Amino acid sequence: MSHLIETQQFTRGSLTELFKLASSLEGKRNDSLKGKIMAALFYQPSTRTRLSFESAMLRLGGGVITMENGGESSSQSKGETLEDSIKVVSQYADVIVMRHNEVGAAARAAVVSKVPIVNAGDGNLGQHPTQALLDLYTIQRELGREDDIHIVFVGNLKYYRSARSLSYLLSKYKNIRVTFVSSPELRMDNDVKEHLKENNVHFEETEDMNAAVQNADVLYQTRIAKDFIKDDKEYEKQKGRYIITRAVADSMKKGAIIIHPLPRVDEIEPEVDDSPHAVYFRQVGYGLIVRMAILKTLLGEDKKLIRAHRRK
Ligand code: ASP
Ligand code: CP
Repeated sequence: MSHLIETQQFTRGSLTELFKLASSLEGKRNDSLKGKIMAALFYQPSTRTRLSFESAMLRLGGGVITMENGGESSSQSKGETLEDSIKVVSQYADVIVMRHNEVGAAARAAVVSKVPIVNAGDGNLGQHPTQALLDLYTIQRELGREDDIHIVFVGNLKYYRSARSLSYLLSKYKNIRVTFVSSPELRMDNDVKEHLKENNVHFEETEDMNAAVQNADVLYQTRIAKDFIKDDKEYEKQKGRYIITRAVADSMKKGAIIIHPLPRVDEIEPEVDDSPHAVYFRQVGYGLIVRMAILKTLLGEDKKLIRAHRRK
């Protein structure tokens, strides 16, 4: 059985196959997962991830059971462990999509689950692999290529699980250049940088966003997230530091794109939304078909596409 816990589980070949499947599902509805049930267990807030997985499952003819605000609404509030909850829910559903506030929660769930677990975000220093898959799909589809890409990550790189997950995926491609733009306090963590070094991906770190974006193919903006940074003083110090204004967007190369996992707060001004570089709302649509492809893969299409997750 496959679980989707982190992006290190993919190879370049399996990404190509997954994305081919995603493209073939665009605008489609079918009954291929009829009779299957997806449980969405969300212990942290979500708009896109939970609803797009639910929509994806319904578009494939399956059914959905869902729990939001799990910290309060579930029996975790009575003291039930995550492991016990998963042992129970995995008897109700054929796949479990779970977001949790603790790093490593999805991996723990996978140990005891009878059905595939999909990590929909674990903690502030974990991963958000399905977001990274849709980010990568967006990049490749919008730029029309897989290699030779300069990607500039901006803002909150330390406490941003989806940027961490995407960085691991980028090492599968050729001639990728990465620029990490952040304050010294919010630099990308060493595990990611070590991985890039080991895989010969050229990266640099800077505080100068304006210079970096001018030769970017992809500008990946992040949220200075109060819920991820946790220390209120640090949050107050960091917020508002890197804002994409229309002038910043206009300084980008022709054909370059701006992506963001969303939600956006104030880090991209609304005036940027109709810039030719802004693709963050199209990105949401790509997320739907990538998640349809993930569900089809985990529930039967070609489980081998997702390598077994190795416990650390
Ligand atoms: N929605 C993404 C996450 O949950 C990014 C964000 O919240 O800013 O990781
Ligand atoms: N991008 C993302 O994960 O959005 P939600 O937090 O709304 O699910």
